[in-house]
Amino acid sequence: MWWWLLAVLLAGTLVAFLTFGRRYKVFSEKNLRAPAPFVSDNKKRDDRLKKGFRLDRVPGNLDAVVIGSGVGGLTAAAILSKAGKKVLVLEQHDQAGGCTHTFQNKGFEFDVGIHYLGQLHDNSLLRVALDQITEGQLQFTRLEQHFDTLVLGQPGQHREYHIHAGKTEMAESLKKQFPGEEDAIDEFFRLMKSVSKRTPLIACLKIIPYWLVTFLIWAGLLDRISTVFRLATTNHSEMMSRLTDNKDLQALSAYLFYGVPPKESSFLINALLIHHYKRGAYYPRGGASEFAFHIIPVIQQSGGAVLVRAPVQRILLNQQGRAYGVTVLKGQEELEIFAPVVISNAGIFNTFQKFLPRQIQEKAEIQSLLSMVRHGMGSFLVFVGLDGTKEELGIVSTNFWMYKDNDLDALMDQYSSLSREQVLGNIPMMFITFPSAKDPTSSVRQPGKSCMTLLTMARYEWFEEWEKTKLGKRGQDYLDLKNGMSQELLDWALTIFPQLKDKVVMVDAATPLTNVHYLGAPRGEMYGAEHNLERFTPQAVARTRPQTPVDGLYLTGQDVFCNGMAGALHGGLLCASAVLHQVLYIDLLALKSRMKKKHKLTRKSA
Ligand SMILES: Cc1cc2nc3c(=O)[nH]c(=O)nc-3n(C[C@H](O)[C@H](O)[C@H](O)COP(=O)(O)OP(=O)(O)OC[C@H]3O[C@@H](n4cnc5c(N)ncnc54)[C@H](O)[C@@H]3O)c2cc1C
Ligand SMILES: *[C@@H]1O[C@H](CO)[C@@H](O)[C@H](O)[C@H]1NC(C)=O
Repeated sequence: MWWWLLAVLLAGTLVAFLTFGRRYKVFSEKNLRAPAPFVSDNKKRDDRLKKGFRLDRVPGNLDAVVIGSGVGGLTAAAILSKAGKKVLVLEQHDQAGGCTHTFQNKGFEFDVGIHYLGQLHDNSLLRVALDQITEGQLQFTRLEQHFDTLVLGQPGQHREYHIHAGKTEMAESLKKQFPGEEDAIDEFFRLMKSVSKRTPLIACLKIIPYWLVTFLIWAGLLDRISTVFRLATTNHSEMMSRLTDNKDLQALSAYLFYGVPPKESSFLINALLIHHYKRGAYYPRGGASEFAFHIIPVIQQSGGAVLVRAPVQRILLNQQGRAYGVTVLKGQEELEIFAPVVISNAGIFNTFQKFLPRQIQEKAEIQSLLSMVRHGMGSFLVFVGLDGTKEELGIVSTNFWMYKDNDLDALMDQYSSLSREQVLGNIPMMFITFPSAKDPTSSVRQPGKSCMTLLTMARYEWFEEWEKTKLGKRGQDYLDLKNGMSQELLDWALTIFPQLKDKVVMVDAATPLTNVHYLGAPRGEMYGAEHNLERFTPQAVARTRPQTPVDGLYLTGQDVFCNGMAGALHGGLLCASAVLHQVLYIDLLALKSRMKKKHKLTRKSA
């Protein structure tokens, strides 16, 4: 009996909470316009993406200031702008976009942190949200249906598996490649679907009051509500060993690396990553810089601005400890910018350890939050310029994930325990992608040329010795390590693509120190805070929410929920919800369902 009473009470609280203060009409079909033609003119792009910080460009009477212009920062800013708020976004780099920025070198254009995206089919929640913050201006092209190839084993003796997109095709094609494993594959896909359906419940832990979460944990009710909480805290290797003994299939179930061995990672996250691409893999038409290019005007419409070369130094706190602005370093001077709401897209570590004074950092609440997260692993990227079109070179949009062994736990343990001196000759995993082959506008952006990007994980400790040196002046030892690693990756890639050997005309590389410089990642992290099991315990999920222990200070971006463009966008949605005191998912879901209905009607009448 008391059970029911309790359930009714909880449900009542929840309904009251969710409907509390529906004040802003943020999302609407009216926000959409037909996509304008692609702007290829560099000057026009720079005018928007590289607007430098100057005091006379700071709008007066700001409602909010955002530190960082990644997808997380821009999403929060755009949604607040749609709610009529005047928002200033400050970016330390010389262009907006964070991980979605691109750079040019010898006539090639490379994207940094967007290789491919999922869940962008018509009227998906992600698509509807992106269309709202870009007024429908972003467009995507689909990769091949066979979007990923997994290569397992030493070069020359490897096995290949093909990953196909499609609601049913993905599982079907795997069953053909793993005869005898049909049941394991069915069960994996069943679990995958289940976690994806129930992930909103996890997000709810970041929305409902923290005391309620504590109570639910204390009373042991979470597991009764849904199995998803258990799946989030089950390690991937443990789960997969229950499903199959096939080592290649186990490896395949965690093939999208992000720096955590499967045994220390959450089954939920790995399943979500594969599920992300189930309905198709996509690339932004025009390249990754299209994100910022199309979100910025929405921020400007409400009187806001996005300014670059604006490194934030500190968050200003008043006597009561409430945030009321930030300082920006301009030359030798620290300039003050005031706003009643401060949103940080610069990650948990920068926000609490760099921007706040020591006595605030040392508060128990902040220390306990910091103790729940670790710095994620760094990345190493090689940017390769190729002479020739994709047709001439025989390359396609399919990506390659390579591992020298199918025991990913042992492989990653070994790799991350290497000392700096041992790295060369021992890189065991790599991702290969051809950005230009994914984008029809590539032939306009870099006529007659193609590009290839190689990626692996790398420890900050291997490069730490040079952390005080400046970009381009890090010395010969640094260059030797960097060039050695990129040569090793390139040689490995050429074993799969021997036809490219004589076509390489440019090679550049990025180490974790490059991430420090351009992405403001404190220890060269590829994906912000580590995506390990601890991060997905209910306590940690509930604590890493947009609201912080500092009044007026909010977090957005990948550290709020999880990595990826989609993860960062959800961080922005959660953040804007917290600032506006309005659960925006309800508005978004309502819009999505209206659009789906309309879609069906127009289909019928057509
Ligand atoms: C190599 C690589 C490949 C990836 N591939 C994919 C992919 O294929 N698909 C996918 O979905 N995701 C991918 N990701 C992940 C995805 O890009 C990120 O998870 C997401 O874009 C992060 O967005 P964010 O807004 O949280 O943070 P960021 O984009 O990191 O933005 C943070 C911003 O804050 C700024 N900043 C930091 N400190 C300061 C300061 N003091 N003052 C002012 N500004 C500051 C930084 O310069 C940066 O612009 C990839 C990432 C990397 C690194
Ligand atoms: C994974 O989970 C199993 C079962 O709970 C446990 O025995 C094992 O130690 C876990 N592995 C790691 C690395 O935590």
